[in-house]
Amino acid sequence: MSQPELIVGFTEADADRELRSDARAGLSGTPKWLSPKWFYDARGSELFERITELPEYYQTRAEHRILRRSAMEIAEMTEVGTLVELGSGSSEKTRLLLDAMRKNETLEQFIPWDVSESALRAATDAIALDYPEIRVRGVVGDFTSGLAGLPAGSDRMVAFLGGTIGNLLPAERAEFLDSVRTALHPGEWLLLGTDLVKDSDRLVRAYDDASGVTAEFNRNVLHVLNRELGADFPVEEFAHVARWNAEQEWIEIRLRATRAMRVSLRELGLTVDFAEGEEIGTEISAKFRIERVRDELDAAGFDLHRWWTDEAEDFVVSLASVR
Ligand code: SAH
Ligand code: AVI
Repeated sequence: MSQPELIVGFTEADADRELRSDARAGLSGTPKWLSPKWFYDARGSELFERITELPEYYQTRAEHRILRRSAMEIAEMTEVGTLVELGSGSSEKTRLLLDAMRKNETLEQFIPWDVSESALRAATDAIALDYPEIRVRGVVGDFTSGLAGLPAGSDRMVAFLGGTIGNLLPAERAEFLDSVRTALHPGEWLLLGTDLVKDSDRLVRAYDDASGVTAEFNRNVLHVLNRELGADFPVEEFAHVARWNAEQEWIEIRLRATRAMRVSLRELGLTVDFAEGEEIGTEISAKFRIERVRDELDAAGFDLHRWWTDEAEDFVVSLASVR
């Protein structure tokens, strides 16, 4: 087996600096807001993996089914030498692409890219073991800060699966797609997974599961602030809230203070007051219609070639190339 390499483009010092600035800005303003990027310490990444197995969380299974059906076609249409996966997490579903590309014998390197070093190390070790003929180079990086660090080439595909693009606000999505387009050459590929608009009760259940795993995942960001910034959030006194915003067509995840309280963030020299019922926004998860996927890709300079949905039309995987 070839040893996986790990390139650290987002160091602990970078994370510390950004967390401080995000927490100060996000908790001083109204409404309060924390970026979902901070969910994913080692525990947060584990909790996300548990979410993917919940009966209510259909997305991972739907995307898996789509890739099982379409991976060979994707491999044949693209014939890439480099596969970059942004927000790769465990890269479990990506194995379907790797299997198809392995059959096609074009793939030389796989570059999973994630802000969670623990998830990335586990994934690169496992993939390098099972795909010894492919060079595996993990990048610890923030995909919203540009894609410098993408290896040079002319036959690359960026995969962004799991619906993670929905965790970006519309303006951030446009900026992100622009940065992917800029990093690639005309004719190179983007494979994008997006969750689709559906019955709102089902959506809310997917983000407020009966066993409370998503609530733990959401509250994990407060554990991160307590540990990293010497904060004293009484974590269990924040309730998990998941709401469908029909106008924006996104799920909103929040943490609601169940009583009035004052929280101190020692490392920032900051105290934050919460009224009873006051909420911190921690994530949006946008749901798409295929027209919106096409329009946003088009606006960013991509041509949509093909898209695949599952039988229930819960999720869509789109294959686009740079114009
Ligand atoms: N692609 C996987 C994991 C999705 S969970 C799947 O489909 O199951 C979202 C992943 O994106 C997590 O692993 C998280 O650590 C990563 N992530 C979130 N924000 C990020 C950012 N700004 N830059 C890089 N990775 C990020
Ligand atoms: C990673 N991302 C696509 C997940 C989602 O569904 O928006 C994160 C998540 N948040 C709560 N549950 C899952």
